[in-house]
Amino acid sequence: MTEKIEDIARALVAPGKGILAADESSGTIKKRFDKINTVSTEDSRRDYREMLFRSTDAMKNYVSGVILYDETIRQKAKDGSTLVSIMQAVGSIPGIKVDMGAKALAGPTAAIETVTEGLDGLRERLAEYHKLGARFAKWRAVITIADGLPTWNCVKANSHALARYAALCQEAGIVPIVEPEILMDGDHSSHDINECYRVTEWTLRSVFRELYDARVNLEGIILKPNMIVAGQKCKTQPSAAEVAEKTVKCLKATVPSSVPGIAFLSGGQSDELATEHLSRMNAIGGLPWALTFSYGRALQAAALSAWGGKTENVAAGQLAFAHRAKMNSLAALGKWDAKQEKAA
Ligand code: 13P
Repeated sequence: MTEKIEDIARALVAPGKGILAADESSGTIKKRFDKINTVSTEDSRRDYREMLFRSTDAMKNYVSGVILYDETIRQKAKDGSTLVSIMQAVGSIPGIKVDMGAKALAGPTAAIETVTEGLDGLRERLAEYHKLGARFAKWRAVITIADGLPTWNCVKANSHALARYAALCQEAGIVPIVEPEILMDGDHSSHDINECYRVTEWTLRSVFRELYDARVNLEGIILKPNMIVAGQKCKTQPSAAEVAEKTVKCLKATVPSSVPGIAFLSGGQSDELATEHLSRMNAIGGLPWALTFSYGRALQAAALSAWGGKTENVAAGQLAFAHRAKMNSLAALGKWDAKQEKAA
């Protein structure tokens, strides 16, 4: 495989392919396992992720890359081969979450606002991850909309950290996924779609200004934004057509065409809506960048519940995962419709 970051970035957003975000921290995966009454141990986390990565056809045809957690990139499958080698064997690129989480942003808004940490020692960690096979990375910044928030201080601090992370990744020969997430869920999610648009536009402008200042090569990044949606607690929910139209409009206003691809997070949308929104955007057409998925929950929820922590359900879990991967692949081509959901 080519080692040029521009080529890796393009491969991640190849037509009909997208990214599987399987980088839940041990705390987050425990919450997901609690819901299916499964104890989270190093072995159960390995078994679950091995099930996904061994969904050979889905991985080969629809999943360009997988974002891993530190534990997973070092883990071995039951037969002794590394999980990394299993995905590499089907042509899927290993990636790694490198941020150390969103921490309270010191100051008057510390109860709500966060800044993502993890820059100290990052150069050395990236060098090690590259040796372990990672060719792309992820750093997630979190922006919360609330009364009078976000502050410029929060937008600026997170944009600056994203740019420093991205420059370090490129120095290491690793494609940075630049992920500024405007939250749609949580306690403060009563904002409407227009407020999401305003804050996303503001944040993306700030992020690209910082990337420019840090001399990041935009042809060697992937942007991972939220879609333009209403907060989960907002009484007025937009149609899928409105989400698609406003998301494309916002991205066209802010994302340079030298960026090869945009891979959305699902953020708490239902599986099917995350798919429908992506398909509608691609159906609009005439876009300068590839638009695809980098979903965590919207790719895994069905597989998790079909598996339920039981070895005898591995085939059912893989079937559920393959189905969602295929639906999202169709969406990345603008060719999904509800009938295909039922047909499968
Ligand atoms: P969701 O699709 O569940 O939002 O996760 C994607 C992700 O990687 C968040 O950082």
